[in-house]
Amino acid sequence: MSYEQEAREQAERLRQAGHATILAIESSCDETAAAVIRDGREIISSVISTQIPLHAMYGGVVPEIASRKHVESVDLVVDEALKKANMTLCDVDAVAVTYGPGLVGALLIGVSAAKALAYAADKPLIPVNHIEGHVSANYLAHTDLVPPFVCLVASGGHSHIVRVEDYGVYTLLGQTMDDAAGEAFDKAARVLGLPYPGGPLLDKLSREGNPHALKLPHVQTPGRYDYSFSGLKTALINTVHKLRQKGEDVPAADIAASFQHAAVELLSDKAVLAATETGAQVMALAGGVASNSGLRNAMNDKCQKAGIRLVMPPPILCTDNAAMIGSAAFYRLMRGEVAGLDLNACPSARLV
Ligand code: KG4
Ligand code: ZN
Repeated sequence: MSYEQEAREQAERLRQAGHATILAIESSCDETAAAVIRDGREIISSVISTQIPLHAMYGGVVPEIASRKHVESVDLVVDEALKKANMTLCDVDAVAVTYGPGLVGALLIGVSAAKALAYAADKPLIPVNHIEGHVSANYLAHTDLVPPFVCLVASGGHSHIVRVEDYGVYTLLGQTMDDAAGEAFDKAARVLGLPYPGGPLLDKLSREGNPHALKLPHVQTPGRYDYSFSGLKTALINTVHKLRQKGEDVPAADIAASFQHAAVELLSDKAVLAATETGAQVMALAGGVASNSGLRNAMNDKCQKAGIRLVMPPPILCTDNAAMIGSAAFYRLMRGEVAGLDLNACPSARLV
């Protein structure tokens, strides 16, 4: 029997049984990660090898360097994830991998590694959308969470408000018209002299500043649930440049706090509005920016006032990891979505 026939039959058996232990791989940007996940909800092991120090000296991710580092790390993180799970490749039921969106060269490393492992061990191969992975981090953190719910996905490359109708069924409610939230945080941080990725450092610095020190523009967007961050970012950059030109002090903590306050108000107001107006009872957060302390606090307050349950992953599951890919993969497997060995990286894959 060919690999593909055998894998499909195994996938069907797993689907009928409703159980699967999945080895997942993530390599879409600057983290090489592997994890072993049971039934979409339980983390048996999760290993993340970050490349951040390597890219920090260039002020952002250098795709070619990222790909080369993924080549070096992918086998190591897979071995470590299996070792920590006390398993061998034979003990897992399927292999999952992020196929997009992301950097094409980086994605290809994970996709090639996953194909090789799946083929060598005769296991089904499950392709996972990275954004769906971020949403699914919530299933690991809140084992009672089931669709429907509304999710704000805010990462370095995406800012979406989606309604999760069912596992794998999404309706796009709103999205950014220009910069992603994380991208705006990183650019704001950069002008303040913080190293890449500036988002978490700006978050930390903002705790020492006055969030009302700087008046930043209130951004208007055509869509009720759409975002725009470029006006906010430009206002901040102009303020800093003007202060520098006049030879005045740049109060970095106040500027960071004002930017964070404005960005968080924008993100949280629209997300809660979308949840309220669509009658959602549960709101979830996802993506790297979901680890922002200001956003977590604001969402807590606003959801409480609106009578909506808020769920969010711990910060380590908000930023890129393979555990979230293993969770999303389980539900894909349960829907019979497996890939052949012709699976390709898709840098611009969409969630909806
Ligand atoms: O989801 P993620 O790890 O990667 C992508 O899929 O893009 O998100 C990374 C983004 C970066 O822009 C990073 O600066 C931002 O998330 N980020 C934060 C925080 N932690 C990570 N932004 C604001 N506050 C944070 N605490
Ligand atoms: Zn991500």
